[in-house]
Amino acid sequence: MEIFESVYSIEQKITALKNSGKVIGFVPTMGALHQGHLSLIEIAGKASDVVVVSIFVNPTQFNNPDDLKRYPRDLQRDIDMLNNSACELLFVPTVKEIYPEPDQRVFEFGLLDKVMEGKFRPGHFNGVAQVVSRLFDIVKPHKAFFGEKDFQQLAVIREMVRQLNYNIEIVACPIIRETDGLAMSSRNMLLSENKRKKAPIIADSLFESFNFAAANDVEKTKKFVIERINASSELEVEYFEIVDGNTLQSISNWNESDYVVGCIAVFAGEIRLIDNVIYKNSMS
Ligand code: PAJ
Repeated sequence: MEIFESVYSIEQKITALKNSGKVIGFVPTMGALHQGHLSLIEIAGKASDVVVVSIFVNPTQFNNPDDLKRYPRDLQRDIDMLNNSACELLFVPTVKEIYPEPDQRVFEFGLLDKVMEGKFRPGHFNGVAQVVSRLFDIVKPHKAFFGEKDFQQLAVIREMVRQLNYNIEIVACPIIRETDGLAMSSRNMLLSENKRKKAPIIADSLFESFNFAAANDVEKTKKFVIERINASSELEVEYFEIVDGNTLQSISNWNESDYVVGCIAVFAGEIRLIDNVIYKNSMS
């Protein structure tokens, strides 16, 4: 695996590879890698000739300065994990390299980023769009791979790709979970022992609500999930929305959409965890 720190050096390398006909697959990350990230890299490896991974903790997408400060960083461990993966080129830029000047761009995503993460983390998706578009301009991949764990992020990126006319295929990859069901996340390692023990209640509640939903309406299903999680003193639901998987707008009746997803954010003390469950998807 080759490691690049400057925009210039990785651009040179990728231009040469593209000129020789290689299909470039790209997996952007913020590091503190886990099996969720590695699954994206594995899928990218099967679907492309050369896999490029970036590790960059993007300051513009953190609406909470404490969250940015405590975000886990361990580059050497990440490199060791990537050495055993399909990643061939690793891009680890500095903030100055990505933002030589402050990025003033303001994206307009309509209703997509007014709800859920967008509502509770103001400016978050604008920062995500800034960094992902900057990385796309540098890497110019044929395909880019994102996890369904960040369900709304995927929708926002697809919309950004549409608006900016990128010729990049966006590939959605399934959520990877710990054996106890907790969705893998770099933030999991920040949980205290007790909160880590309780955190699987989030996924359990989502899975149980899948059966509950078959016999109950949307409102009752929402209540079911929220009450079950809040019953644990270690966990507090910030939001749980049952939405159309394309528009991300709340539905009030199961028949309103063929693609229905439940998206949740939960505080375990200071640490904020997100997860989701697909109730139905007639496309899959
Ligand atoms: P990060 O949280 O590091 O996640 C990088 C990619 O890994 C994202 O596409 C995310 O959805 C995916 N991912 C994380 N946990 C996963 C899991 N348990 N299962 C499957 N995929 C998982 O998301 C970001 O970074 C940033 O916002 C980024 C896109 C890099 C822009 O800064």
